[in-house]
Amino acid sequence: MIHDSIEKAKGDKKSCGTSHGQDTQQRLVQESLAKIKHKILVMSGKGGVGKSSIAANISVLLAQKGYQVGLMDVDVHGPSIAQIMGLKGLLDITQDKRLIPISFMENLKVVSMQSLMQEKNQAVIWRGPVKAGLIHQFIGNVKWGNLDFLVIDSPPGTGDEPLTVVQAIKDARAIIVTTPQEVALADVRKSINFCKTVHIDPLGLVENMGPFTCPGCHTKISLFKSGGGIRTAEEMDIPFLGTLPFEPHVVEACDDGKPIAGETEKSEFTKALDQIVDNIIKVI
Ligand SMILES: Nc1ncnc2c1ncn2[C@@H]1O[C@H](COP(=O)(O)OP(=O)(O)OP(=O)(O)O)[C@@H](O)[C@H]1O
Ligand SMILES: [Mg+2]
Ligand SMILES: [Zn+2]
Repeated sequence: MIHDSIEKAKGDKKSCGTSHGQDTQQRLVQESLAKIKHKILVMSGKGGVGKSSIAANISVLLAQKGYQVGLMDVDVHGPSIAQIMGLKGLLDITQDKRLIPISFMENLKVVSMQSLMQEKNQAVIWRGPVKAGLIHQFIGNVKWGNLDFLVIDSPPGTGDEPLTVVQAIKDARAIIVTTPQEVALADVRKSINFCKTVHIDPLGLVENMGPFTCPGCHTKISLFKSGGGIRTAEEMDIPFLGTLPFEPHVVEACDDGKPIAGETEKSEFTKALDQIVDNIIKVI
């Protein structure tokens, strides 16, 4: 089942049914957050639009620029960060019951739900309160240390995970990811309204899977129409951070467990994402 460490990390909460366990947890969460300058939640209304790929690659680019970065995967049901980053093994635990994040590269530490599960293909069936407890532990019981950015990858929609994150991290900012077609954009409006309801300031909108450049004749082909992202951002009055091209190599890189942004030869995707990262740094 779940790695021992998470049981150990539950600490006094387990031995005592009263609220002081929760108070301790709250204190740990606040202590961790106090050392983190910027918290960025990557979210979307629709599934499969590229949140995890973007969260992973943004983290790599920020780390390359010299920022101290943490990447946290709160997608309990479909944790893909471990796959994208090629993470293996379980998390270690310190003497004082803190989980040690996996060091992916210089300046970048990662914690994924997958790193707590012994079986890679194990399905997780947890209800809201358990997920919320786990997310609090990911923030409070992980030795993040001093960070410039904590990038949080969430599952699609506005369910327990993003809600727990924004309730725990009052100053989180959201990046909303969409694809250019109208069905996806309708869901973006829901995400933006979610941010308004929970008083989270959207950092901006990223449009993914935009025009694809034909490797043969270099013609740009819009697989999913184009321009929908910028229109929706204007309509909803949030910053538009940029468009990422459709890039088949992203899929290979994700499957190989090596984020494309880490490659020395810069792809169109990486160049566009680099500009988005610069925009984020400017507006944050
Ligand atoms: N710009 C892109 N071009 C081509 N393929 C992409 C691009 N961005 C993401 N993908 C691919 O699309 C698939 C879905 O991406 P990803 O897992 O990042 O989406 P997600 O929004 O996190 O999904 P979920 O909602 O399931 O968490 C992956 O196979 C990924 O490699
Ligand atoms: Mg994902
Ligand atoms: Zn062509």
